Amino acid sequence: MKDFSEIKEQVKSKIAEVKDGAQLSEFWQNYLGKTGVISGLMKEMKTVPPEEKPLFGKAVNDVRVWAQEMYQTKQAEIKARELERRYERETVDVTMPALKRAPGNLHPITLIKQEMIEVFAGMGFEIAEYPEIEDDDHNFTRLNVLKDHPSRDMQDTFWLTEDLLLRTHTSPGQIRTMDAERPPIKVLVPGKVFRSDSDATHSPMFMQMEGLVVDKGITLCDLQGMLDKFVQQMFGSGTKTRLRPSYFPFTEPSVEVDVSCFECGGKGCPLCKGTGWIEVLGGGVVNKKVLENCNIDPEVYSGLAFGIGVERITMLKYGISNMGLFFENNLDMLRQFK
Ligand code: PHE
Repeated sequence: MKDFSEIKEQVKSKIAEVKDGAQLSEFWQNYLGKTGVISGLMKEMKTVPPEEKPLFGKAVNDVRVWAQEMYQTKQAEIKARELERRYERETVDVTMPALKRAPGNLHPITLIKQEMIEVFAGMGFEIAEYPEIEDDDHNFTRLNVLKDHPSRDMQDTFWLTEDLLLRTHTSPGQIRTMDAERPPIKVLVPGKVFRSDSDATHSPMFMQMEGLVVDKGITLCDLQGMLDKFVQQMFGSGTKTRLRPSYFPFTEPSVEVDVSCFECGGKGCPLCKGTGWIEVLGGGVVNKKVLENCNIDPEVYSGLAFGIGVERITMLKYGISNMGLFFENNLDMLRQFK
């Protein structure tokens, strides 16, 4: 009677070598499968004398059961190991620092816009906003910019129809305010304006702030006084203004307003191009024709108006030399204004 010890030794050493599921199923095929070694033992049955056949059969079966147990133990081992590896792979390190999400911040133009509004609100100005799409009447004609007037060429206008356009300045806000209110008027109109113009210091869309004051006895001195206060709060208490004669159809007289260079204190530097002065806005005494166009008696009332470029103030305040930087949305640039 064989005790199959040779086969058992083989099974033991083979199963010990099994490391993963693939090797395990190979083991199954080689020993326990239909064509495997243990199944092959049954074929020897025919060489066994009849009275020993039952014993032989039982012995082969014992080997099979024993080998199956070896197989199952190994299978459990491999499963446990794979599970362990998976747990290791999927481990969450709760102590790992989280990815940072930087909170956003306001755009530099928005910051300066808000600062300017605060300064003028402090002087008693009301804030009003009007449409970006205007008609010829409000943007030009009633501001005394007549048809064929050369100053229409100064404004490279985006026309939408024969009559409608993207406002080229916030000055139509003067007309809309005077249509809606009677003096005394003190209003600030911030908003986007549009001109067909684009280079380092011009953008086809930019922001202006229109100021309008209408009351009895308003003069150019009031304009200079207000603008002095404004530039001192924006650029420092030592900043002065200088008025230069200019021309706008809707103001008479018209002025261009310079501030003393806050970089060099007036000595001359690259920022002021050596002049000691920087131009920041246009303004003047409201043209009598404009008051009349709004049914306000110029014999009783007078007014002052000014228009400030918000981008220009922002560029000066932060030392930005290229207007394009405001609109490129480069995060490295924008994050500096936190
Ligand atoms: N509207 C003028 C411009 O855009 C500025 C201005 C406003 C001038 C009010 C005088 C009075 O250039």
